[in-house]
Amino acid sequence: MLANELRQLYIDFFKEHGHAEISSASLIPENDPSVLFTTAGMHPLVPYLLGEKHPAGNRLVDCQKCIRTGDIDEVGDASHLTFFEMMGNWSLNDYFKDESIRMSHEFLTKVLQIPQDKISVSVFAGDEDVPRDETTYNVWKSLGYPDERIHFYGRKDNWWGPAGETGPCGPDTEIFYDTGKPACGPACGPSCGCGKYVEIWNNVFMEYNKNKEGVYEKMPIHNVDTGLGLDRVLYIMNGQKSVYDTEQFMPIIRKLEELTGVKYDGADDETVFAFRVIADHMRAATFILGDDKAVSPSNVDQGYVLRRIIRRTMRYLRKLGGGDGIMNELAKVVVEIYGPVYAELRRNENFIQDQLAKEEMTFNRTLDQGMKEASKILSKLSAGDTIDGLTAFHLYDTFGFPLEFTQEVAAEAGVGVDVEGFREHFKEHQEKSRAGAEKKFKGGLSDASEETARLHTATHLLDGALRKVLGDTVWQRGSNITPERLRFDFSFDRKMTKEELDEVSRLVNEAIAADVPVTCEEMTVEEAKAQGAIGVFTDKYGEKVKVYTMGPYSKEICGGPHAKHTGELVNFKILKEEASSAGVRRIKAVVDYENK
Ligand code: ALA
Repeated sequence: MLANELRQLYIDFFKEHGHAEISSASLIPENDPSVLFTTAGMHPLVPYLLGEKHPAGNRLVDCQKCIRTGDIDEVGDASHLTFFEMMGNWSLNDYFKDESIRMSHEFLTKVLQIPQDKISVSVFAGDEDVPRDETTYNVWKSLGYPDERIHFYGRKDNWWGPAGETGPCGPDTEIFYDTGKPACGPACGPSCGCGKYVEIWNNVFMEYNKNKEGVYEKMPIHNVDTGLGLDRVLYIMNGQKSVYDTEQFMPIIRKLEELTGVKYDGADDETVFAFRVIADHMRAATFILGDDKAVSPSNVDQGYVLRRIIRRTMRYLRKLGGGDGIMNELAKVVVEIYGPVYAELRRNENFIQDQLAKEEMTFNRTLDQGMKEASKILSKLSAGDTIDGLTAFHLYDTFGFPLEFTQEVAAEAGVGVDVEGFREHFKEHQEKSRAGAEKKFKGGLSDASEETARLHTATHLLDGALRKVLGDTVWQRGSNITPERLRFDFSFDRKMTKEELDEVSRLVNEAIAADVPVTCEEMTVEEAKAQGAIGVFTDKYGEKVKVYTMGPYSKEICGGPHAKHTGELVNFKILKEEASSAGVRRIKAVVDYENK
């Protein structure tokens, strides 16, 4: 089975069951500073899972691009990936457990014809807050699943969400494929992680809202949120051993063999691992760079994750004896594989190529500096000595010099490295940065405040004003809003002049002074285009979208939420205009509010 066939079978099946197909959203969450990447199909749908009406209806289906950085350490086994495609279907206060489970069962056993006895499921066991999920258990039973293959687990395994601090969440039922490998022991089961069972689908029954006090309150609406991993189902359908054997990865691996002269088939574990990490990371890096939001490697946020992924690739390439330029060749293969499905990769191919080459140069320079620093350290030591943990960590932290490199150069001088000490410092550092990342997650997707809604409205007015002043070639490349400020990235290839900035501010303030209502209409992408609405037209033909209009000042495809009228903003002020990446400028701005 080919990936395209599987995608289509899934979409068609749910369309036949009354679902409207929606497009994959960007990998970078829109207007949302609380998460770095889209990690699940439900992310772009949070406002609708909280009760807002979706223009396409109450039953949705899509295939969403996702990045999960939490899984990076597990990459290299049969099924964990940094980038993956999540096929998903949603019920927005429409069908619930019974219909959802029946549809999943039918798709797997009838459409894909997976033998039912290869499927095991898990069900929420209940705890002091929420009772055991009897309904779900009964549905699986009625479909003929024996008790041995229905496993009850607690909150750790069978509860999903909320995505942030607060928001929709609920018990889930996970569906596993039994690979037929022998059990790892008497306690072997879908949750043990030994590789016998591969999780393929997760159906979340979002009946609860976790509120600010941390209490799980029952919601007045019930939603279903599901996610089925495309790569996993593909390798299972094809009887392959891992996701890397599929046509989504094999061309990357073959190219890597060609460029390094190293063989993948039959190689030792370490070599196989290096191939897999490189293939996974290059796919992820190409998708991040290929997103219309134009993220480039940096030391913050998405750019930092991207940088880590690229540098880790370079380290593993070195292990295979590979030199410069290989990443660029691998990225071309990724674009070849996915270009027909994700047009943005082709649109942004020059950017992908350019950024990879630049980062390679930067990292090589970093390594040169690290090498010098390491030599200095070694010059003070003699054979038999050890580089202490803090020094090794300093080389890593300040010079970006990976531990393995320190070990290599030290070994050449007969010097050891205190790896334990390094790990301790590293762990401390990780805990600090994790605390930072969690803070980032706080506030959550569900905390759309009035401030952020108003700043969002200001973003539309700014977009409109920029196009008036700088021309129609300006288009949005990214938006990030916190309750304090807006940040807007747009395509433009030089610094704006003071006059241009003043004119843009004047136009936005004129729209605010005019106090026009902000109205929202639902229409197809084609109708929106015909009306001159701006926005990223990646949506599928005939797909219904929301169009927000602000008098003559702005008309944009957008999910909302917004201020009710432009006068709520009172005053708009640009704080900064600067370069974001090649051909992309960034504006930071604030607004004053009516009731401040
Ligand atoms: N949102 C659910 C998940 O990611 C479906 O597993």
